[in-house]
Amino acid sequence: MNYLNKKTIEDIDIAHKKVLLRCDFNVPIIDGKITDDRRITESLKTINYLINNHAKIILCSHLGRPNGVFSEEFSLKPVAKRLSELLATPIAMATDVVGTSAQTLAADLKDGEIMLLENVRFCKEETANDDEFSKKLASLAEVYINDAYGVSHRAHSSTCGVAKYLPSAIGFLMLKELSIMDKAINSPTRPFISILGGAKVSDKIGVIYSLLNKVDILILGGGMAYTFARARGLNIGTSLCEEDKLDIAREVMKEAEKKGVKLLMPVDFVVASAFSNDADFKTVDETEIPNDYMGMDIGPKSVELFSNEIRKADGGTIIWNGPMGVCEFKNFEKGTKALAQVIAETNLVSVIGGGDSAAAVKQMGLSDKMTHISTGGGASLKLLEGVDLPAVVAIQDK
Ligand code: 3PG
Repeated sequence: MNYLNKKTIEDIDIAHKKVLLRCDFNVPIIDGKITDDRRITESLKTINYLINNHAKIILCSHLGRPNGVFSEEFSLKPVAKRLSELLATPIAMATDVVGTSAQTLAADLKDGEIMLLENVRFCKEETANDDEFSKKLASLAEVYINDAYGVSHRAHSSTCGVAKYLPSAIGFLMLKELSIMDKAINSPTRPFISILGGAKVSDKIGVIYSLLNKVDILILGGGMAYTFARARGLNIGTSLCEEDKLDIAREVMKEAEKKGVKLLMPVDFVVASAFSNDADFKTVDETEIPNDYMGMDIGPKSVELFSNEIRKADGGTIIWNGPMGVCEFKNFEKGTKALAQVIAETNLVSVIGGGDSAAAVKQMGLSDKMTHISTGGGASLKLLEGVDLPAVVAIQDK
């Protein structure tokens, strides 16, 4: 489908109207404090446009996975506070999603005013894409704008169902994400490299096959590299391995060869005696993983191999999704951080998606050196796989 055919916020009349704006404010919160507010700051362009065009703004988002039950831990209150600071304007916070509090606040909204509904996943109907619930949500507003790229691969009430009942369009963040991904995937400057990490082959298999038709070089790291190593007949000790995916891994290697795609995998690993930052660890070649050790990161030779390939591709395009190692442990984040550094030093068109790879880039202060850091990992993977995003499909065509 052609996403760029969808109505955008500029194609729809919003002046003096109640606008339901679905955002992805699913941000990390520790002890009530937001530790990374990028999903909020990236939504500001759309919110400011609505303010400046005299809309009455009803913000809606999920936070985490509360499974249809109210819990303070998943309240969007910290988001309301942060947004209010960023916009220097009060945000009225509803205590429910479609109940009396939401209805009363929505009815009282004046032009340019903003309210935030409570976590839409406090209602179990949301993830079920329940039609009655979608109708109720829609009844709060007159127009629906979806800017929640990060959750656009989910067919839920607030991302899909509601679009049946209101004039709809996508917001600026959604448009930016879709345009960048479309260009990177369908008309990339070459060479076109993709780096895929993350734990499981099963999660990425569709993406890998799709990328084999598009990229010149595919680099596989992270947990799934061990299944590939096993498929190549190597001993991988106690590393993560999907035994039932060994045939698929072999098939991928054959396909890459047939299609002339350079497939690179780690040649050494940092292995540990247990899945812990405090475990004993060492660096070994791919053929030397001890029986009682597990792979936790790529080693320095792999970093060198991948870096050389990335440097040689300068001027091309790179899409990176997923870490090279267990980044949440300090001892096993080096591979991921080293690749972030190398990419930052090139002039590649660089599109970074996925929580951990994006977080590594941000932690290292390299965000400005990348072309684009996506607000959506799962959604970007679906686009890479060539799968339609249901939340975008639901929006009216121009
Ligand atoms: C994300 O963080 O990936 C999005 O907000 C989607 O969240 P979900 O995986 O819980 O649907």
